[in-house]
Amino acid sequence: MDARDELIDLLGQVKEQLINSKEIGLDAPILSTHSLQYLRKGPQLDIEPLKENFYCNSLEELENFINNCDRCRLSKERKNIVFGEGPPNARLVFVGEAPGMEEDLTGRPFVGQAGKLLTNIIKAMGLTRDEVYICNIVKCHPPRNRDPERDEIEMCLPFLEAQLSLIQPEIICAIGRISAQSLVREDFKITRERGQWQSFRGIPLMPTYHPAYLLRYPQAKKAVWEDMQEIMKRLGLKDPRELRD
Ligand code: URA
Repeated sequence: MDARDELIDLLGQVKEQLINSKEIGLDAPILSTHSLQYLRKGPQLDIEPLKENFYCNSLEELENFINNCDRCRLSKERKNIVFGEGPPNARLVFVGEAPGMEEDLTGRPFVGQAGKLLTNIIKAMGLTRDEVYICNIVKCHPPRNRDPERDEIEMCLPFLEAQLSLIQPEIICAIGRISAQSLVREDFKITRERGQWQSFRGIPLMPTYHPAYLLRYPQAKKAVWEDMQEIMKRLGLKDPRELRD
């Protein structure tokens, strides 16, 4: 990638931060040292991965294992761990970024504004929420809705990996930049690479925009619908809109 593209991408990320800050009533973006390091692509953090071994035979066992987790600083302010929900043998798993405020209060993923839009997208695919599995990269709400930081993601990722290996879905849909960067590549560019099949541990993965982004830029809905159609094709689902014609 040339320097110009890199700069455009960086400005896009800063812009997103500014919009997020404005939405929660702040004038200036909150950028932690880690986020700044990340934006500057500076030295990587030396992450200690999860040390203990954990073997879980079911999602319930895994959820119990995670219960009371205090492996990272997100545990300090969270109200509930948002483990994820859906059938244990779901064919399709949506992986978002992190629980928001309403998710933190209810302990359920994607129940706020963005969640309502995700639910409608799922319905438009001819599915219902209880036919798919919905979870996040990190299981606890980052304070002030900030992006989860690199070390928080790395601490939580083994749980998502265990979740996915228990579910063994046919397809993963990575929702938004943070999800795609955590599951595909750290320098994944959602604006340029969404809609292109990737894979995570051998499972086909479709990266798409986050519904929170769609709430701000409804013109991006068309692109998301194209990505969902790709998923539907792969799952052998008919477009309900065609069925109505
Ligand atoms: N945004 C996410 O990425 N996940 C949720 O659960 C809610 C909002």
